[in-house]
Amino acid sequence: MQNRRTFINRLAGVAGLATISPFVNEVQGKDLLKRLKLAQSKPTSEVVTDEGFWMAVRQAYTVSPSIINLNNGGVCPQPKVVQDAVEHYNRMSNEGPSHFMWRILDAGREPLRHKLADFSGCSTEEVAVVRNTTEALANVIFGLRLKAGDEVIITKQDYPNMLNAWKQRAHREGIVLKWLNFEFPIENNDTIIREFEKAITPKTKLVHITHMINWNGQLLPAKEIAKVAHKHGAEVLVDGAHSFAHIDYKISDLDCDYFGSSLHKWMCAPFGSGLLYVKKDKIKNLYPLNAASEPESEDIRKFENLGTRSFAIEQAIGHAIDFHQMIGNERKQQRLYFLKQYWTEKVSDLPGVKIGTPKSPEFSGAIALLQVSGKTPVEVSEFLFSKYKIHTVAIEWENIKGVRITPNVYTTLKELDKLVAAIRDCVASSESSARKR
Ligand SMILES: Cc1ncc(COP(=O)(O)O)c(C=O)c1O
Repeated sequence: MQNRRTFINRLAGVAGLATISPFVNEVQGKDLLKRLKLAQSKPTSEVVTDEGFWMAVRQAYTVSPSIINLNNGGVCPQPKVVQDAVEHYNRMSNEGPSHFMWRILDAGREPLRHKLADFSGCSTEEVAVVRNTTEALANVIFGLRLKAGDEVIITKQDYPNMLNAWKQRAHREGIVLKWLNFEFPIENNDTIIREFEKAITPKTKLVHITHMINWNGQLLPAKEIAKVAHKHGAEVLVDGAHSFAHIDYKISDLDCDYFGSSLHKWMCAPFGSGLLYVKKDKIKNLYPLNAASEPESEDIRKFENLGTRSFAIEQAIGHAIDFHQMIGNERKQQRLYFLKQYWTEKVSDLPGVKIGTPKSPEFSGAIALLQVSGKTPVEVSEFLFSKYKIHTVAIEWENIKGVRITPNVYTTLKELDKLVAAIRDCVASSESSARKR
């Protein structure tokens, strides 16, 4: 029996197929499948508040009951089926690394590219599989043919890795960085677009847009900014680390030239997985970060010269996409927004509490920034963890200060009720220390 199973596993491996026991074969999986069938006939708005449905989704994860993890804005956990896939492919790799990794699993990258392209609404020839947003965007930032005096528009609220990459180019080559500084939250597209347009000059070569600001969850009108940039002849790079698989859109909707994202964030793929999109006619002129034999090739694969990487992680991405699509993009976005609204509405009227994130779904998703007057972000975050075991992150970056709170699809309303009670307690303790002073 054992030999037969091993034989079948090998055979499946040779054919490039997965042999992981599907989640839907397990008791919790069967329950979720039943609920998904029922959900098909219901409007999304009804499924969004169906706690039985979302409890079934939670069962697909292995999150610890000993803490309440509300820092999904940092990195997201994987459903068990994705964890199993990583282990499965890793064990397979260890049976004979050069055979199973380079001859068997490597062949899975093309089907994966198809899957990612299909999900992203772009051509298979425009998607590269990389390890994270940092790597994806470093390919663009360091690969562009820019010269001294060329201008790039960035904002103080972009992600540090990207800003450091631009600063390095500015330092070494004399590229000019034009900085914008926003007072978020802003719930007006025109205000944001106008600021970008005002900064564009005839020397502007590229506009860098963080689609969703990681510090406070503000969503920017990337498509509209891209339109303005293109009108003035500038290219557009979108940092989609936080919007991808969180907000319901396709990369093709944004009409950008370059895009990068981390799949270990909202796609819940294995840690260390990402994607790079380069518009077909821009591939030739973009040099790859890791040199390729034909750096001016029009083949998107030139950006995948990573050397030895984890084939297990790469191959398990496909399982994460399947899981994500089982829940559905639209349902997921609406549930995430619902969770954010659920707790923020309950605390926003408390004395000294401010929410530093837009309210409307046009400008936000799951992420919200909590500000409690009289306490530093670190003090609030430590209070939530030490007394309630609620894990969050303190944010102090440029003009943005607060505690970032980010639920995910597995977060229950009971957990958010506990968060609300903890924030009330924190506010009360802040008021009582103010009275003593
Ligand atoms: C907006 C943004 N860009 C880029 C990154 C970098 O992502 P990674 O560490 O996966 O490369 C992050 C990480 O949180 C982010 O929030």
